[in-house]
Amino acid sequence: MSNTARIRGAFLNALGRPVILRRRDAEPTLELGPDLAVPADLSLPAVVRVGEETFEVTAPSRGEREISGRVALVTGGAQGFGAEIAKGLVEQGCFVFIADLNGEGAAAKCDELGAEVTHPITVDVADEESVAAMADEVERVTGGLDLVISNAGIVRAGSVLEQDVASFKLSTDINYVAFFLVTKHLGALLARQHETAPNWLTDIIQINSKSGLVGSNKNGAYAGSKFGGIGLVQSFALELVEHGIKVNAVCPGNFYDGPLWSDPDRGLFVQYLNSGKVPGARTVADVKAFYEAKVPMRRGTTGIDVLRAICYIVEQAYETGQAVPVTGGQVMLSS
Ligand SMILES: NC(=O)c1ccc[n+]([C@@H]2O[C@H](COP(=O)([O-])OP(=O)(O)OC[C@H]3O[C@@H](n4cnc5c(N)ncnc54)[C@H](O)[C@@H]3O)[C@@H](O)[C@H]2O)c1
Repeated sequence: MSNTARIRGAFLNALGRPVILRRRDAEPTLELGPDLAVPADLSLPAVVRVGEETFEVTAPSRGEREISGRVALVTGGAQGFGAEIAKGLVEQGCFVFIADLNGEGAAAKCDELGAEVTHPITVDVADEESVAAMADEVERVTGGLDLVISNAGIVRAGSVLEQDVASFKLSTDINYVAFFLVTKHLGALLARQHETAPNWLTDIIQINSKSGLVGSNKNGAYAGSKFGGIGLVQSFALELVEHGIKVNAVCPGNFYDGPLWSDPDRGLFVQYLNSGKVPGARTVADVKAFYEAKVPMRRGTTGIDVLRAICYIVEQAYETGQAVPVTGGQVMLSS
């Protein structure tokens, strides 16, 4: 088991700011003993020797916000909400791992956002070995992590009377089981880091859905997996609080401008137009207008809407186990 997350924790603890640790073959300017006592006035960058290993320790320039400079990981970051979130986090001065089944897409997104502030990972979040390897890669590249966005998800809509069980299970694996796997392996990394940084709070945020708060007609596989996600969020929050990890969900409404809805060939707007799901609709624009009219604020959710909720959750030190709706008023919490 690598000790790097514990070493990063010692820096977080002493300096009170996010840092990145990279293995380097260079002359050390500081040597840490087994107690990992980091001088609070240490100026960065520094080259630090710990036992047999040497690390370059860097810190991003201080941004204005609490979230600035954090090391984040976004699953499903190659496109859609994930890509928007990754972009927004980079703009906030974060270092972002973009982790996706579509490795080429993740790499292209990293090139677009800046190779020095991003790192692509090819991962299948529904596969435990793949997720464990992702956690190892994170520790190797930055030494640790501050923020996990569990965003990868799929929709397999269909009537309960007709849907095949394989589609139901695929939806459950990627939307529900994967959140368990991501929390298990990245949560373990965050917990090791916390051993030496007892006052440093970290975050795991699931991108859930309004369909995790209210049922969705002929879309039970999706809504069920998302409702289940809220149960995991609440339960993991109760358990992981002792490791300084907050666990919350963001529940967006429909992202009408994203590829899921607007892809000209396979998007839901085209599908609904062709299947006649919206009575009287003759164009994609008619279908879009029909769905926008369901939202009190008369538009779909955008990436920046979700990013603002993420910033709120990270910067709000006194909240865990919550589901934050971002739906333009379409879904309201009730108790
Ligand atoms: N689009 C919407 O209207 C909407 C609304 C509410 C919530 N959401 C949620 O937001 C999240 C993102 O949705 P989106 O619309 O941006 O999706 P999208 O289909 O545009 O992108 C999903 C990304 O996840 C990746 N992915 C899929 N399976 C994966 C796996 N097994 N391992 C790793 N990566 C995988 C895909 O390659 C893709 O890059 C999902 O959890 C979804 O349920 C979406």
